[in-house]
Amino acid sequence: MRLLCLSGSLRRESFNTKLCHEIATVAGEGVDVAVATLHGIPLYNADDEAADGLPSAVAALKEKVVACDGLLLSTPEYNNGIPGVFKNAIDWLSRPTSDIGRVFGGKPVALIGASTGGFGTVNAQTAWLPVLRMLKVQPWFGGAFRLSKAASAFDDDGRLADDVQREQLRAFLAGFAAFCCCETQR
Ligand SMILES: Cc1cc2nc3c(=O)[nH]c(=O)nc-3n(C[C@H](O)[C@H](O)[C@H](O)COP(=O)(O)O)c2cc1C
Repeated sequence: MRLLCLSGSLRRESFNTKLCHEIATVAGEGVDVAVATLHGIPLYNADDEAADGLPSAVAALKEKVVACDGLLLSTPEYNNGIPGVFKNAIDWLSRPTSDIGRVFGGKPVALIGASTGGFGTVNAQTAWLPVLRMLKVQPWFGGAFRLSKAASAFDDDGRLADDVQREQLRAFLAGFAAFCCCETQR
């Protein structure tokens, strides 16, 4: 099973990108988690799309989403909401509208996130829900993972320092992978 974990931050030392890499390390047998980022995706401009179609970085990321059996979105939280760069990327991936079904339709999707605040992206994860509904994905709500106080959660090697949190992440991924397995067998 191939899962894709998309980090919603461009920051070099992003806690969300670290979380994506961490979740790849706790994957069980037969589950492969690839990590993707938003680098190279320009600001959406309908004039540019009309003139040139999809930028190559957008087209490449779209095909990664198509190819995966399940998509994890690791969202930062900005001002209680979705960071603009992450929403911008998903907006690009939803173009053209006629392609939404191929890219997202029925795709198992789960939300995770890391923030430096005390609530671990609970507001950002909630803010994604109407977007997921619009994309007609299959959201998984069988578990939750929100990493609060992220600035002190990772060690010098970029690994989650707390064994309890690692186990929570492993259980979360196992649940999501089982869900993806059911969905792909339908
Ligand atoms: C514009 C802005 C708004 C932010 N708003 C929130 C917030 O509402 N809640 C929160 O917990 N952290 C907030 N933060 C702090 C982020 O959690 C922190 O920058 C985190 O490192 C972002 O994720 P990243 O490390 O993956 O880039 C905000 C940061 C920025 C730059």
